Amino acid sequence: MKPIPYSHQSIDSEDIKEVVKVLKSDWLTQGPKIKEFEDALCKYTGAKYAVVVSSGTAALHIACLTAGIKKGDEVITSPITFVASANCVLYCQGKPIFADIREDTINIDPEEIKKKVTKKTKAIIPVHFAGHPCDLKEIHKIAKENRLIVIEDAAHALGAEYKGSRIGSCKYSDMTIFSFHPVKSITTGEGGAIMTNNKKFYEKLLMLRTHGITKAPDRFINRKLAFTRYAIRNTHKANPWYYEMRWLGFNYRMTDFQCVLGISQLKKLDKFIKQRRKIAAIYAEGLSKINRIILPEEKTYVKSSWHIYYIRLKNIAKRRIIFEKLQKAGIRPQVHYIPVHLQPYYKKKFGSKEGEYKNAENYYKRAITIPLYPEMGQDKIKFVIGALKDILN
Ligand SMILES: Cc1ncc(COP(=O)(O)O)c(C=O)c1O
Repeated sequence: MKPIPYSHQSIDSEDIKEVVKVLKSDWLTQGPKIKEFEDALCKYTGAKYAVVVSSGTAALHIACLTAGIKKGDEVITSPITFVASANCVLYCQGKPIFADIREDTINIDPEEIKKKVTKKTKAIIPVHFAGHPCDLKEIHKIAKENRLIVIEDAAHALGAEYKGSRIGSCKYSDMTIFSFHPVKSITTGEGGAIMTNNKKFYEKLLMLRTHGITKAPDRFINRKLAFTRYAIRNTHKANPWYYEMRWLGFNYRMTDFQCVLGISQLKKLDKFIKQRRKIAAIYAEGLSKINRIILPEEKTYVKSSWHIYYIRLKNIAKRRIIFEKLQKAGIRPQVHYIPVHLQPYYKKKFGSKEGEYKNAENYYKRAITIPLYPEMGQDKIKFVIGALKDILN
C-alpha cells in the first residue's frame, strides 16, 4: 500500500474535461473564466466582490497593501499558522505582532489581541486554524473600538461557517483570503482569492493583481493622454488602447484553466466538506478511548471545514517516537505548525524567544496531524485508527 498522506486533492474526470476545454479555447489567461470563478465564489460565500489571484500568499500580500499597511504599522496575527500569514505584513514593511492562542480551538485569543493593540496597530489577521473559525464577533468588536482592519486568513476555511454565515461572507471583517493549494478545501493547483464587500478595496485589489494597472475610464487621471480631443467633444470615450498604472502592482493573475478547475471544484465543495466532517466524526469516535491523546473539538457556534485533523499528545516527550512509528506504519503525518515567532528569520529580526507564547508553544510540542481528505476510504480511516491504537495503547 502507498503511504497515506495527511491530505490529498480530489480531481475527477469532470474537472479534467473542463480544463481541457479551456486549454483548447482562445483564452488561457485574462479570459472569461476569471470573472465566472469570482462570481461563483461570491454566490457561495455571500460576499459582494471576489478577486482571484495566483496563490493564498499573493492574496494576503495585496490584501495588506489594500488595507494600507506600511512602514511602522503593526498587524496582529497568530503564532500558530503558516509563515505566509505574518510574512505578508513584512512584504509591506509593517511589523507582525503575535497574540497567543486559545487552548481549546488553537485560534488566536481575543483577550490576547486586546493586550497587543497599540497606537501603531493597523490591522488584525485572524487565522481559522484547521478550518475552525475564530471568535469573529469578538475580534470585530476589538477592531471597531480601535479602528482596525480585519483580514481573515481563511486559507483553511472555505466551506466553514460561523454563527450561521459562511466564511468568506466578510460579515465580521473587511477582507477574507482563501488558498486553493492542493491540500485545501478545493484546488486550482496554486491559487487564492480575496473576498470583500468594500467597493474601493475591490477596485484597488483588481489593480494590484495586474501591475497596478487600470483600464476603467472613470479612473483615468492623465486626461490628455486618455482622451483624444475628438472623443472629448463627441463621445467622451477613452482611447481604446489606453491604460494607466496607478500603483506598484504585480502579476498575481490566475489563468483561465485554473479558474475553470476552481469552478468545477466549487460545485463539489459541499460534498467534500460533508466527507471531511464524516471522517472527523469517525476519528472522534474511533480515537476517543485512547487516553494518551487529546482530540480537536468543534464549538457549537461553528461548522468547521476540517482542513486538517490534529491530535495532541499528553506526553510531550513521546512526540517524535510516535511520529516515526506512524511513518513506519505507512502513514505520512505532519505537524501544523512550528510557531512563526520561533523561525530563525523572526528570531533574528525581532528577537523573539522561546516561552513568549505559552499556549502556542505548548500546542506545538504535542501536535501531530493525521490523514484526512475527502477521498480517504473506510479502509484507510480504519488503518490510521488501528495504527494509533497499536502505537498508543
Ligand atoms: C493559514 C495559511 N495562510 C496562507 C497560506 C498561503 O497559501 P498559498 O500556499 O496558497 O500561498 C497557507 C498555505 O498553506 C496557510 O496554511
